[in-house]
This record gives sequence, C-alpha cells and structure tokens, in this order.
Amino acid sequence: MKKRLTITINKLNPSELSKVNTDCLVLGLNSDKTLNKYANELNKVSGGSIKKLQNKQFLKSDIGATGNLAAPQGIKSDLVYLIGIGKTKDKLSMEKAKSILSSMVNSILGTKAKSASIVLPDISIDGQDKNWLIQQLSFLAENQSYTYDAKINKKDKKVITLKKLNVFISSSPSSANRKSLKIGQAIGRGSNTAKDFGNLPGNICTPSYLGTQSKAAAKKYKNLKCKVLGEKEMEKLGMHCLLSVGNGSAQESKLVILEYSGGKKGDQPHVLVGKGITFDTGGISLKPGAAMDEMKFDMCGAASVISTIQVMAELKIPLNVVAVVASAENMPGSKATKPGDVVKTLSGQTVEILNTDAEGRLVLADALTYIKRFNPKTVTDVATLTGACIIALGHATSGLMSNNDRHANDLYEAGLKSQDKAWRLPIWDIYQKDLNSNFADIANIGGRAGTITAACFLSRFTKDYEWAHLDVAGTAHVGGLAKGASGRPVPLLSQFLIDKA
Ligand code: BES
Ligand code: MN
Ligand code: ZN
Repeated sequence: MKKRLTITINKLNPSELSKVNTDCLVLGLNSDKTLNKYANELNKVSGGSIKKLQNKQFLKSDIGATGNLAAPQGIKSDLVYLIGIGKTKDKLSMEKAKSILSSMVNSILGTKAKSASIVLPDISIDGQDKNWLIQQLSFLAENQSYTYDAKINKKDKKVITLKKLNVFISSSPSSANRKSLKIGQAIGRGSNTAKDFGNLPGNICTPSYLGTQSKAAAKKYKNLKCKVLGEKEMEKLGMHCLLSVGNGSAQESKLVILEYSGGKKGDQPHVLVGKGITFDTGGISLKPGAAMDEMKFDMCGAASVISTIQVMAELKIPLNVVAVVASAENMPGSKATKPGDVVKTLSGQTVEILNTDAEGRLVLADALTYIKRFNPKTVTDVATLTGACIIALGHATSGLMSNNDRHANDLYEAGLKSQDKAWRLPIWDIYQKDLNSNFADIANIGGRAGTITAACFLSRFTKDYEWAHLDVAGTAHVGGLAKGASGRPVPLLSQFLIDKA
C-alpha cells in the first residue's frame, strides 16, 4: 500500500510569506522584471536576493524555467524555487499553464523535501479559471509523484519523500476551490492506479489478475459492484470472437464487469469498454522480437476504465457508470486461432480472422455487443488498438472516432480541459469496404488506413447506441528510457464523466 500524499489549500497574505513553515517554497516569477506580490515580499525580507540574482541574469524566467534560492534570509523555508510564468498581463494557453505547474511540482520532487508549499501563480488562462489551475496542480502533484516499485529491490530506486503539499491562494478558499483540488487529486490517483496495472509484467497481470483486482476494488466502495465471467460462461453466451483470441493461451480469458451506481436508479449508464490483452505476441501472425516486451501494455485500455470508475466512486459522482474489460492473452500454440479461421460473434455476424495480430477488435466486438443489456446513454471504448495511430498522431494525442458528433465533441472537449488530448479521425462509409471478406460477413483487417479500418470494424457492432472509440496505442505508454505506462486516458475519461454529471 502506497503512502498517500496530503494536499491542502489555504489563504496566504504576501506579508505572511516569511512565516510559512515548509521545507520547500515555490513561487512564480514574471519575465518582465515586475515582481508579483509574493516575489516582492520575498525579495524584501531576503535583502533583495531576487533582484540581485536578476541583475546578474542568474534567474531564468521564461515560461516553466526553474531558478532557486538556497537558504534565503528572512524566511522559514530553506529552499525556494522560482518558476517562470511569463509576462505579468499575458494570457497563457492551457498547455503553457500546465508546463508551469508541472515545473513547480518537479522542482519539489527533485529535492528530499517532506513538506512543500506552492503559491498558486496569478496567471490568466485562455478559456479557464482559477479552479482549473487548482485541479491541474493537484492532478500533477499526484501524477508526477508516481513510482513503480512493485518488483524492484534495488537500493537506488526512485524515492518520493514528499508527504504534504500546501497550495496557497490569495483569498479564502471557496468550496469550488476545494472541490477542484479534490477532483484533481482523485484523477491523479486514478491515473497512477492505471500506471501500476500497465507496468506490471504479463506473468503477473493476467486476465484473472484484472478480475481479482476489480473485485477487490468493488469491495472498497459500496456503490461499486463487480462480476467476472470466465470462458465457460462466455461460451454459453456465444462470445466466440472474444474467446478465439485466448485459444492459444494457458491463461483463461475473462470478461470483467464493474457497475458504479452513483446516479438515480434507472438512469441510463455511461459505459466504458477497455481492451485487456495482457500480452500480445501477435499469435500465429507473430510479432517481430524487437520491443515485444512492450506488448505487456496492451491492457492499458482496460486499466484506464477500471481506474476511471474508481475515480467516480471515490468522488461520489452522481452518475451511473459501467466499465467492461475484455481480457485475453494472445499467444501462438497448437490450439491458437489461425489466419483464415472464421468465428461467429455474439452479434451473430461472422468474422474471417486474416491476421491474428488484429486481436483487440475481436475481443472488443463481443464486449460491445454484450453491453447492449445496460441500455447505455453513451459508450466509449479505449484500446491500444493500432500501431498506425502512433504514425498518425504520435505519442501526444489519442485517436478519437465516433458515430455521433456530440459524443465525439464531448470527449474532445474533455481532452482539452484535462490536457489529455484526443483528435478525431473519420470513419466514413467509404472505408467500410476494406473489410469485405469472401468467406465471412467481415474480415478483421484491410485497407491502408489502419486506425480507421479498425474503428470501422468496431462500428459494425455499435449501431444501436452513441459510441466513440479512443485509440491510445501511442498515448497509454511510452517506450525508450522513460518506458512505462502514462495513466492516460484516465484524465480525459474522468473529466468527460464529471462534466456529464
Ligand atoms: N496491440 C497492437 C497495437 C499496438 C502496436 C499498440 C504498437 C502499441 C504499440 C495491436 O493488437 C496490433 O497488433 N495491431 C496491428 C494491426 C494490424 C495487424 C492490422 C498493428 O497495428 O500492426
Ligand atoms: Mn495485436
Ligand atoms: Zn494488441
């Protein structure tokens, strides 16, 4: 069990700055040499230390840049970080504002400080208010404090010492300010939960593990219920398409259903569906060896929906939400599905599996049919579905596809607000013919626009409701030196649901 970070919000008059009892104090510094009220106070009590450093051009003040004062005179805190916040009257983009807050948090986390205080910078942001800043700050404080240590014994593993963060604002915190702080922190925790699921290796994080962890999560909240279906039950229902993916694996495939009833009884739920391939070898259409370890992240969609529904429960959001995880391990083997095999889906449509590496859409197809029973208000599936999405949008932006403009727009807006961004791609009819098959109703691959045809495949199973698909292949985890899960799109999904409530 990880230790919790405590985040509080309080009023601070500039004249009280010297008395703040904290290991590390963080302030904004404008780039136009006018000191804001707090920086001015610090300058005054410390014998002009800021002005001195500025005159020698020792303090950088471009947006997000970090400068520091060690043991300045006249104040209690031993360490002060000054973070560049741009010109005094500038209107900043949400991206720039986020980078400022992120630098503020990082400056603290780079020290061994146990307690820290951030004076919320007085910046105006395009289209957002102070509550947005507060929510982002507490989100980032939690999100950036994440460490993965489940299986690491090394002495030099990253240790976060920060226990208590105080956010200071210039007026008495309103209930809206406090709420924003809580929401940001809960989303940050949710995103860290998703990272842990993603980072755990495939030999631990199996379909059964996702089931037992979901059951454990349901025990924590009284409005959260969990049901797990195994292979026998899915067989009986006719979910042969989902089951075909796990045929080559010794691990049992699972369908995990989490129901959060925070809304009125009978209110239609918003349904989230996550791809939970706990390891994707490609199956008989085997993947090349390089970086194949990263296919343990192929359950990040599942991780995000399991985590988001816990954020809803934690915040007691008045909404009904269902999260469904379609989970299997995609392995080659004598019982594995072969290219050319034809399976019958739960919807009754038949699928010719031309490539066993296009398995995510196969498990999702049956899950997307299964969830009709909930009479959903909206449906959003989340999947590390296509490598092509990384080519199209890189690692910054998730792919968004939908059969409904309003639903697509709601998700797009939630992405902007949470700074967990998604961009829409078309799924016009013209692409559908790429999925024609000579031997079944649909083929599981086809055409050149890989991300779009994958979504077109899913659209064959989502005709009865408002549906959107998030392709998070590039955003849910990153490779290279910082290899690991990102916790996305928990912020986007949480914001979307909170704004619905
Ligand atoms: N899980 C992969 C997609 C993926 C690739 C995610 C790289 C993250 C990084 C998915 O199951 C897959 O293998 N997709 C194939 C589809 C193809 C066979 C049509 C792909 O993208 O190559
Ligand atoms: Mn695959
Ligand atoms: Zn996959």
